[in-house]
Amino acid sequence: MDERNVAVVAGGSGGIGEGVVHALIKAGYRVYVPTRPGDHSERLKAYVGHAADLVTIPADLCDEQAVVAMRDAVVAAEGHVDAVVVSVGADYYGYRLHRMPRTDLDRSIHDNLITHFNIQRSFIDQLRKQDHGTYVTLIGPEAESILVDAGMMSIMAAAQKMMSRVMASEASDSPIRVHALTAHTTVKTRSRGSSSNDDWITAEELGEYVTRLIEGQISGSQEALHELRGLAQVRKALGR
Ligand SMILES: NC(=O)c1ccc[n+]([C@@H]2O[C@H](COP(=O)([O-])OP(=O)(O)OC[C@H]3O[C@@H](n4cnc5c(N)ncnc54)[C@H](OP(=O)(O)O)[C@@H]3O)[C@@H](O)[C@H]2O)c1
Repeated sequence: MDERNVAVVAGGSGGIGEGVVHALIKAGYRVYVPTRPGDHSERLKAYVGHAADLVTIPADLCDEQAVVAMRDAVVAAEGHVDAVVVSVGADYYGYRLHRMPRTDLDRSIHDNLITHFNIQRSFIDQLRKQDHGTYVTLIGPEAESILVDAGMMSIMAAAQKMMSRVMASEASDSPIRVHALTAHTTVKTRSRGSSSNDDWITAEELGEYVTRLIEGQISGSQEALHELRGLAQVRKALGR
């Protein structure tokens, strides 16, 4: 086993996650990404273009045992995990809360909360055992705004943010750092294409911010909450 920096990016196959994966690989990390069946892992591999530094592992993040097995596989291969980034969730649109079908509620809770719960349960435990590591959750702007007909997105984002805050407080008796990073603009991803606004934070620059945060090179690196209000703020933090 070599002593490469190792990161796990849950949701690394998504539009935002791929920017994080790319930035971490550029910074010299070996990056593990849990993937579900589908073509997203091929899309990620084609985008990143550094096959040796990207390892995809099949894992359903709703399944706690699958997440444990994924963590154990990373630890068996590398001996340690330096950073965990969580960029997992699914959009929801369709119903006011009082008309929302129960099946939609359950799906949303599975995609946006059970996944996050399972990941932190396995990986915070690992980071604590090592006495080392950083855990970052990426949160959307809905955490602080109310979306009508898509209220589950607001509720789930707010819950993810509070989960991170609880984790950060609970980690204060250890050397590990836990961060909730909220991007308050829509994030410009490849999948959103050209329909974007100049102030939107790009997935690549968000990835660089996350990488520098993990490395302790961002102002306020010890603070749990990072609120990114626009691209200019991100670029300033990156020294551009
Ligand atoms: N300002 C913003 O727009 C902003 C900022 C920060 C964070 N966020 C939040 O960050 C998350 C990712 O956003 P995105 O735009 O990258 O979305 P995306 O492209 O849809 O990616 C979502 C990721 O989550 C994974 N995922 C969803 N449900 C899952 C499940 N049940 N089990 C396993 N994996 C699951 C997806 O896996 P597959 O590839 O297999 O589908 C994918 O990797 C969302 O929760 C979003 O709200 C948004």
